[in-house]
Amino acid sequence: MKIETILTPAELPAFAQRDLRATACVVFDVLRATSTFVTALHHGAKAIIPVSEIAEAMAIKKKQPDVLLGGERNGVRISAGGIDFDLGNSPREYTSEKIRGKTIVSTTTNGTRALRACAHAQIVLAASFLNLTATAEFLRQNNFENVLLVCAGTGENQADEDVVAAGALCELMIGSLRCGDISGRPQGPGQRTVPTLSDSAQIARRSWLAAKPDLPATVCNSENARRLLAIPELHEDVAFCLQRDVYPLIAQMEADGSIRKG
Ligand code: MLT
Repeated sequence: MKIETILTPAELPAFAQRDLRATACVVFDVLRATSTFVTALHHGAKAIIPVSEIAEAMAIKKKQPDVLLGGERNGVRISAGGIDFDLGNSPREYTSEKIRGKTIVSTTTNGTRALRACAHAQIVLAASFLNLTATAEFLRQNNFENVLLVCAGTGENQADEDVVAAGALCELMIGSLRCGDISGRPQGPGQRTVPTLSDSAQIARRSWLAAKPDLPATVCNSENARRLLAIPELHEDVAFCLQRDVYPLIAQMEADGSIRKG
C-alpha cells in the first residue's frame, strides 16, 4: 500500500485529471464538512449528496422535494433565491430528530468540492477525527494498492486541521514504526506489508506528531477554527469535531455520488 497526501486544494484541479481507478481517496474536511457528514450518518441520515454549487443543490430539491438542503457559505447556513436551507454545516445541528431517514443535499465551500473531485476514484471515503480508527481499519482490511488522503483546505489554502488528521491516519496505518522502517517491506514472516508513505504523507504525519500532545491548542490557531470560534453559535463546533472515534463508521461514496454508511 502506498499512501500519498494532497495537502492543499490548489492541487485539486491537476488531480482531477489523474487516473484514480486503482486509488482509494480519503477526504478530510475536519472543520467541518466531513465531520458533519459522519455525524449525520451516525444519527440515521439515509444519504448525503455532496454538490459543488448552490444551484445544483436547489435543482435537486426541485426534482426531489423530500430532500433536506444543507451546507454553508462563509461558515453560515445558506439563503439563496428566496430559499432558506434546512441545515447549516454545524455537526451539532444534525440530530436524529431532524435527519433520521432523510437524504441531505449539501454544498460547502471546500469539503463537497473535494469529494466531487474524487468521484472517479476506486473508492471515496469521507473521514474525520470522529471516525478515524474505523476508516483506518477499513483501509487496512481492504489493503488498497494506493491510498490518497485529500485535505480539503480552507478556501484556496491548506488547512492545518485537515493535514493533522491525515497525518493521524498515517500514524494509525503504520503504527509505531520509526522513520527508517517506513519501507513498504513486510516486517517479518506472515506479517503484513507496511504501507509506504510518500513525502507528502510524511509531512502530514510529522504535523500530527507535533500536534498530538495538545491537539485543541494546535487546531484553535488554524484559519478555519479562528473563524468558527468568533461566531458564538458555532464556536463549540471546533471541540466537537476534534473528538476522537466517537462514531465508528465508514462514510463511503456510492456509484450515484451519494455518501452512505458503509
Ligand atoms: C468547507 O467545506 O469549506 C467547510 O466545511 C467550511 C465550514 O464548515 O465552515
